[in-house]
Amino acid sequence: MLRVTGDITVPGDKSITHRALMFAAAAEGRSRLRGLLPGEDCRSTAAVLRGLGCDVPDPPPDGSELVVRGRGLASWTAPAGWLDCGNSGTTSRLMMGWLASRPFAATLTGDASLRGRPMRRITEPLERMGARFRGVGDDGDPNRLPIEVTGGPLRGLDYESPKASAQIKSAVLLAGLSGAVPVSVTEPILSRDHTERMLRACGERVEQEEADGGVRISLAPSGRALPPLDLAVPGDPSSAAFFIALAMLADEGELRIRGVGVNPTRAGFLRLAAMMGGIIDVSGQREEGGEPVADLVVRPGYLHAIQVRAEDVPAAIDEIPVLAVLAARAEGETRITGAGELRVKETDRIAALVGNLRALGVEAEELPDGMVVRGTDRPLSGRIATHDDHRIAMAFGVLGARPENDIEIDRPEVVDVSFPGFWQMLALLT
Ligand code: S3P
Repeated sequence: MLRVTGDITVPGDKSITHRALMFAAAAEGRSRLRGLLPGEDCRSTAAVLRGLGCDVPDPPPDGSELVVRGRGLASWTAPAGWLDCGNSGTTSRLMMGWLASRPFAATLTGDASLRGRPMRRITEPLERMGARFRGVGDDGDPNRLPIEVTGGPLRGLDYESPKASAQIKSAVLLAGLSGAVPVSVTEPILSRDHTERMLRACGERVEQEEADGGVRISLAPSGRALPPLDLAVPGDPSSAAFFIALAMLADEGELRIRGVGVNPTRAGFLRLAAMMGGIIDVSGQREEGGEPVADLVVRPGYLHAIQVRAEDVPAAIDEIPVLAVLAARAEGETRITGAGELRVKETDRIAALVGNLRALGVEAEELPDGMVVRGTDRPLSGRIATHDDHRIAMAFGVLGARPENDIEIDRPEVVDVSFPGFWQMLALLT
């Protein structure tokens, strides 16, 4: 018997925290930022910015206000050593955008997982704008970190992105902003739009229109200095998803989660979870710092299988791990397709999810671009290989909270990348 009742908030949004720190470091003046995520990924962003001479302290552990004294992009200086982005793809890829216009060379590196992730998708459009990139690892691979970025004067670009990726889109937009040249990105499906919203909040003109091949986002930079930010970061919907799933898997109870970001480009999980039979009430919708925020109330529901298709994926990309775990407890066969990007996340999440589900006794199969999961109500037991992926650890942590299951996680501490305090909150609620 699992009863999940409570009234919680989740840590600040990871994507917005990265951007807020970067914008504050590039602005002229004193930015005041509240509710930043104190996770390891965001500390990597702060450390990289400090490596460039910016006065950016680490986000406080309790989400209290952080003051960043920005001295403008022109104050950024060549780093003395390599800039370590840790596990954070967003740090490395968005920083390439800012650095593309800086008149110096800087080398970005990361942990073993990040050094294995593809970077050509970012360096290719930025090279077309005039930035130069060089693989400086042992094998000199220009597609993998460590990569040296040499910035300089840029030219504008109209880029047709092959993927719905906010990291690609943001790198190009930030290069356009910092290099003061017009840019546009056309992506097949709108990816998370936090960069566009923050640019608009800073008084920049960003337009979005339907286009052949998807949606076109364009920026005509004003050339003015960025103003300082005064921002409250919403709760991370990707972190909330784990507790939404927990409440859906419960036998009784009611879980309230306050102040969660419900930006439509991030809210795919809410829709898919409701399709599965989750009972999720969304109320008190408001706007904070240009982002929609709401309170959620989640109750247990009878869960059944769903089909997840390519068009559902961008707005739920980081929630597929927890969705796959829900599918293991839903009646029927859940089929996820069009999610090939999962293969190049912190780990190959398709292989990691299917491998771990099978290790627990769930029938699951890999597809090239997704997976099939057959739900079961049998007790599940086994040891999870997280592959050092925070979201794999948390997804199976939620499944392990059901009393009939006995699930051990090999490296529980990896959750600190995006959700310090996850295990304590899970223990408190179950
Ligand atoms: C992010 C974009 C997404 C997402 C990642 C964070 C961002 O990656 O998976 O966790 O903050 O821009 P892609 O842009 O590669 O889809």
